[in-house]
Parts: sequence; structure tokens; C-alpha cells
Amino acid sequence: MDHMTKPDMDEAARAVLARNDRGGYTVPTDRLYPFQWNWDSAFVAMGFAIFDIDRAYRELERLVEGQWDDGMIPHIVFHAPSDTYFPGPEVWGTRHRIATSGITQPPVFGMALRHVHDAAVAAGRPDAADRTLALFQAALRSHRWWLSARDPHGLGLVSILHPWESGSDNSPAWDEALARVPPTTTTAIRRKDTGHVDPAMRPRDEDYQRFIHLVDVYRDCGWEPARQWAVAPFKIADVQMTGILARSTADLIYLAEALGLEGERAELASMHHALTTGLAGRWRPDLARFVSLDLVSGEDVGAPTQACFMPLVALHVDHTQLQAVEAEIKRWLEGMVVGLPSTAPYSQAFEPKRYWRGPVWAVVNWLLADGLRMNGALELARQIEQSTVSAIERSGFCEYFDPTTGEGLGGDAFSWTAAAYLVLSRRGHGPSAQATRP
Ligand code: DGY
Repeated sequence: MDHMTKPDMDEAARAVLARNDRGGYTVPTDRLYPFQWNWDSAFVAMGFAIFDIDRAYRELERLVEGQWDDGMIPHIVFHAPSDTYFPGPEVWGTRHRIATSGITQPPVFGMALRHVHDAAVAAGRPDAADRTLALFQAALRSHRWWLSARDPHGLGLVSILHPWESGSDNSPAWDEALARVPPTTTTAIRRKDTGHVDPAMRPRDEDYQRFIHLVDVYRDCGWEPARQWAVAPFKIADVQMTGILARSTADLIYLAEALGLEGERAELASMHHALTTGLAGRWRPDLARFVSLDLVSGEDVGAPTQACFMPLVALHVDHTQLQAVEAEIKRWLEGMVVGLPSTAPYSQAFEPKRYWRGPVWAVVNWLLADGLRMNGALELARQIEQSTVSAIERSGFCEYFDPTTGEGLGGDAFSWTAAAYLVLSRRGHGPSAQATRP
């Protein structure tokens, strides 16, 4: 892609989104991920907001068509059939009016909604308040679900019950907890992903057996949150998920103020307080990282992964913490062609090409750079943003990148990488992140 100029790249990014449009929603990439995915769509909506506000709202509106009555926004909405993905709707066996999966994904939705709303207001769109309000109500219901279903004991930390919920499917962060999950399944496993991309880049078969074991367990609970919580063999109070939820909560507080919703603002402020207090307690000064908590073993999750820095999107850390985090991130970047690796290169678990065990993800960098900017680490934020943009310009809109070579890996023509390009290539000229403080 060396020959492409910035306008060409912009055009190419928009073409990726157009190519993956299936009628108001965007698939992450053709064939490998042929439905609407939750956090992918939130990032994509922010990309659309740069050049097509109506389409940006539409992306979020189509996602909430899949929202459950209890408030959960599922991780996949199966709007239209496809036989190129496993596990499809028949494996999930959920009972929503549209077929969906039964688990969720990082709630970037609130952050995306604020982004789209601000773009709509700046463009003078007369429908901004109405469209934002409907989506705000959906987001608030989903945040209530998060707190009641996934933090029933009031830790101020929300839990994932399946590695797929984290979005970081085979991260080393889950290794110990996943090893306790039996590899037996009642569902026959028919992987399709390894027919689309090199199996060496994907989770291993044994990981899939355990992933599907968990689906079997939760389906047998009728997808009822309290029953799942009671029997879950995998339950991690996750700092990445909680950081993203807290950040989205701050963005919903901003929107409640903009929409004049005082009761909702107060409710969100109390959620925000609980989540940021919970997160702050997960800082480990000796590691210079935040750590998740395995609720089955009661142990800290020690694996050094990108998740450990994600609380920065929500917390205003003190000077000592910020210096420690910056030094640790710089250590991870040493000798890398593109950062930030999803697993520390000094870790035994580091595999630079295998999915979440080392590769660099543009959307992770987007969030981390926002967090660093919000905390005043502008130079490091810019470095991460620029290295992401350069990797995309060199290797294309790939799913992710090998940090040691910059090579593009996984699926190609990936929607969220295109969205990340559109947003991050416009940065780098100052503190432009929309950090909020309720
Ligand atoms: C997959 O199938 O790889 C997904 O990450 C699950 O959402």
C-alpha cells in the first residue's frame, strides 16, 4: 500500500466499510465474520460518523434490534443466514425475536453514541436529539444489565463468563481459568474459521472445545443470568471490560446532561463511582499494571496483556501510576515494529502471529491512546496512534498486525481497522481525545 496517498487511503477505508455493509449494519469482514458483532459495530459507527452520520446512527440502531428484554446487547446479531461461521444460531439456541448469540461483548456502545451524537450536533442534524435519545435508553438498559447480571455482589467490577465476551478470545489472561473448563461438548464442533485463515493464527482446537463447553453450559441454563452466574466454570472480573464500561458510563453521563435527563444522570453517576472505585483497587504497583480477578480461584490474573492498561480509558491515575504505566508500555514497545502487542513480548506466552497472544489490534490502540491522552501522556498516545496508522498504510486494513514485523494478519478488508484508520489518521495534532469527567 506504499504508493497510496492519504486521500487514497481514506477512500479505501470507506470502500471497506461499503463492501462490508449488509443493509444498515456492517460485518467485521466477509465470510470469517458474516454477521453483526457488538463492539465491532460500535467502532464502525465512530468511523462512519466522519463522513455519513445517518449511517453511523443506523449501525447502532441495527445492533440494538438484537437487544434482549433484560437489557443485554448480545455479541452477535444474526440478521441474515450464512453458512461460513461456527457457532451459528442453532448452537446458541436463544429465544430473542431476532436470532442472536447468548453472550455479550465490550460495551463500547456508549462511547460510540457520544461520538456519533457530537458529530451529528456539529453537523446541525435536526434528528440528533431524537435518535440519540432512543439509543441512550438502550445503552442505559444495557448498563443496568451489566451491573445486575455481572456484578451481583457489588464489587465495582463486571465479570465475563466466556472468553469471547472479552473480545480477546484466546488471550493468555484466560489460560489458567480456561484450563479448568472441561474440553467436552454436547455440541458437535465444526470450525469454519480455520478454512478462511491460517490455523497458526487462530485459537487452537482445544480452546474451541472449551469455548463450546461454556456455550453448552449456559444454553442449558436457558440463558438466565442468575443461573449462569451460579454455575459458571469461568468467571473473571475483568479490568478491560470494567474500564470500557466505566468509560462508556462517563460518556452516557455527558449525554444525559446534553439531553437534560437529571434522574438518569444521577443513576449513571452512581454506577460510574462504583466502577471507577472497583477499578482503582485493581492497581498493582509492583507490576505497574491493573490486574483482573479470577472469581473461581480467588486469584489475581497475572498475565501481562493489553487489558492491564485499559482502565486508563476511565480512570484519572496519579502521577506515580502514570509514570509507571508509561515506563511499562515503553518496555513492551522496545524492539517492536508496531505496538502495542496484545501480550508483553517478554512473556513466555507471547506469540506474535496468533490472534490475541501477541498481535497488535488497531482498535485496542485506539482505546489505549484515548486513555493515555485523557491522562496527559500525549507523546506516547501519539506514538501509538501514528504507529497504528503507519502499519495500516503499509499492510492494509487487516484484522491485526505482527508487532515484530508489521505484517498484516488474520482476515483482510476488516471494518474496524478501516474505522480506526479514519479516526486515528485525523489525530496527532494535540489532545483531541474526548475524555470526560462526570
Ligand atoms: C470468533 O468466533 O472468533 C469470535 O471472536 C467469537 O465472537
